[in-house]
Amino acid sequence: MHCITASLLLSASALTAAKYTFDPLKHMSGIAPYFEPENPPFDPAAPQGCNVSRAAYLVRHAAIYANDFDYESYIEPFVKKLEASQGNSSINWDRSHALSFLTTWTSPIEDEDIEKLSKVGNLEAMQLGVDVYERYPSFKQPAKIWTSSAERTVLSAESFNEGFAIKENETEIVQIGEYKETGADSLTPYKACPAYSGSRGSSQSMVFQKMYTAPIISRFRREVPSFNWTASDIYGMQQLCGYETVIRGDSPFCSLDLFSPNEWLQFEYTNDIMYHHNTGYGNPASGAIGYPWLKSNTDLLMSNNASQDIYVSFTHRELPPTVLVALGLFNNTAFSASDDVNATMPNDGINPQRVWQSSRFMSFLTNIAIERLECDSFGYQDNSNQTGEYYRVLVNKNPQLLQGCVDGPGESCSREGFQNFMQEKTRRFSAFSEDCAVTYDNSTDSLTIYQS
Ligand SMILES: *[C@@H]1O[C@H](CO)[C@@H](O)[C@H](O)[C@H]1NC(C)=O
Ligand SMILES: *[C@@H]1O[C@H](CO)[C@@H](O)[C@H](O)[C@H]1NC(C)=O
Ligand SMILES: *[C@@H]1O[C@H](CO)[C@@H](O)[C@H](O)[C@H]1NC(C)=O
Ligand SMILES: *[C@@H]1O[C@H](CO)[C@@H](O)[C@H](O)[C@H]1NC(C)=O
Ligand SMILES: *[C@@H]1O[C@H](CO)[C@@H](O)[C@H](O)[C@H]1NC(C)=O
Ligand SMILES: *[C@@H]1O[C@H](CO)[C@@H](O)[C@H](O)[C@H]1NC(C)=O
Ligand SMILES: *[C@@H]1O[C@H](CO)[C@@H](O)[C@H](O)[C@H]1NC(C)=O
Ligand SMILES: *[C@@H]1O[C@H](CO)[C@@H](O)[C@H](O)[C@H]1NC(C)=O
Ligand SMILES: *[C@@H]1O[C@H](CO)[C@@H](O)[C@H](O)[C@H]1NC(C)=O
Repeated sequence: MHCITASLLLSASALTAAKYTFDPLKHMSGIAPYFEPENPPFDPAAPQGCNVSRAAYLVRHAAIYANDFDYESYIEPFVKKLEASQGNSSINWDRSHALSFLTTWTSPIEDEDIEKLSKVGNLEAMQLGVDVYERYPSFKQPAKIWTSSAERTVLSAESFNEGFAIKENETEIVQIGEYKETGADSLTPYKACPAYSGSRGSSQSMVFQKMYTAPIISRFRREVPSFNWTASDIYGMQQLCGYETVIRGDSPFCSLDLFSPNEWLQFEYTNDIMYHHNTGYGNPASGAIGYPWLKSNTDLLMSNNASQDIYVSFTHRELPPTVLVALGLFNNTAFSASDDVNATMPNDGINPQRVWQSSRFMSFLTNIAIERLECDSFGYQDNSNQTGEYYRVLVNKNPQLLQGCVDGPGESCSREGFQNFMQEKTRRFSAFSEDCAVTYDNSTDSLTIYQS
């Protein structure tokens, strides 16, 4: 009897004691190397009985060495201070277990590399091209791919095309300028939106940054007292985990001895607060900034005369989250009675229940896909006839449920349902010039780049 109980207990504990693993690179927000969720709740394959007949993709550029802001605000000051300390015999890194690598560590970033694609970035863009090609084997090669005109977006589009196109020279890469007076008619509409500001969200996120870095500063001060530790140093070191990984392939800054899993989650949450106010639900202009891409691409998917099977557009980190807001995805207050969205992102503590987790939609190469499906299947609830045209949205290959629009196979949305869904979005978000408080007089509310 005893024996059986003991062995039952043993096997029960074997079942429950899953090993805890933690990967900081999945919590790097806008500096995360591209990743697709490994256990998505919904199957990325087309639902049973359905084929994808057309698709539209919005893709952020691939991994870069560092962006101006991160480099100048955090990384460069830390690196300069570190370099000075490495030649200073009164600062002894060796005495610390976790920090000893800083005795000899050198920065992977030179000034002239800023904003440039890294090798890893190039490779990942090409890999994404291959993956998307394999996802839609029956698609005709598109005549055009669109990209905003910054070098990192253009090179990402070119690398993607190398992986994607069979005859590379038969797809034209169309560059769309990044200007301040284009209205909604570009792949960087936030730049032409006076209501948008790049620094929105930093004061809120700084509150949390200051809080969570304080105990880390104390710890590092005990280990290496003569280095003048600041919150910016801590934040810059955590950023280096992401940047160094996409440059050198790995980074000692990602060590869990250096920063605990909780401290990585706090770094991530600092970014989540910032993006919530910058390009998310905390910015009243977000939906209007994202809507033009959504509208022009759903029009292409729904029309009966589109000339391409797939429409791919490359942009910067700011645009995808605004499209998610226009779609109502990653909405912390969805399925709740409240619309007090700022209350869901407090500046003084993590909301672990939030779905607004920027690493899930801010990584390098993050992509939003809208697919048009042709189906010949049956509803699982009532065995209804689900023949015809359906739509679904995927974020980094992970199918998303559109709130109020899940009447099709695999929780996709019928053509009629999607039309109603889009009508509601049009009602709320189609006034770009007004919601952006545009001051120039030749603005436009629509994105027309796909028409020529
Ligand atoms: C693409 O390259 C192939 C092989 O070099 C050539 O035959 C073809 O004409 C080119 N197509 C275009 C559109 O330039
Ligand atoms: C408005 O005029 C400016 C200056 O000529 C130009 O750069 C911009 O593209 C125009 N905007 C639109 C929407 O045509
Ligand atoms: C070395 O570091 C100590 C402690 O921070 C500082 O007081 C001293 O000025 C530094 N020496 C040099 C040469 O920078
Ligand atoms: C330590 O860093 C802070 C913030 O950068 C600076 O104001 C202060 O002068 C520094 N102290 C020393 C001793 O270098
Ligand atoms: C959330 O906070 C931002 C920044 O203070 C503010 O502009 C926005 O209106 C707030 N949103 C809501 C729904 O209260
Ligand atoms: C495609 O059809 C729409 C109406 O469904 C029409 O407005 C548009 O001009 C057509 N485009 C082309 C290229 O024929
Ligand atoms: C987020 O969800 C709430 C609750 O359903 C809803 O009231 C709100 O309109 C949604 N926000 C957006 C931008 O769709
Ligand atoms: C999907 O594609 C397969 C293979 O091309 C074809 O046999 C099937 O009829 C298609 N189904 C639909 C619903 O279009
Ligand atoms: C399902 O509906 C389609 C289109 O309305 C029709 O062609 C097909 O015969 C129907 N299938 C069944 C099994 O009723």
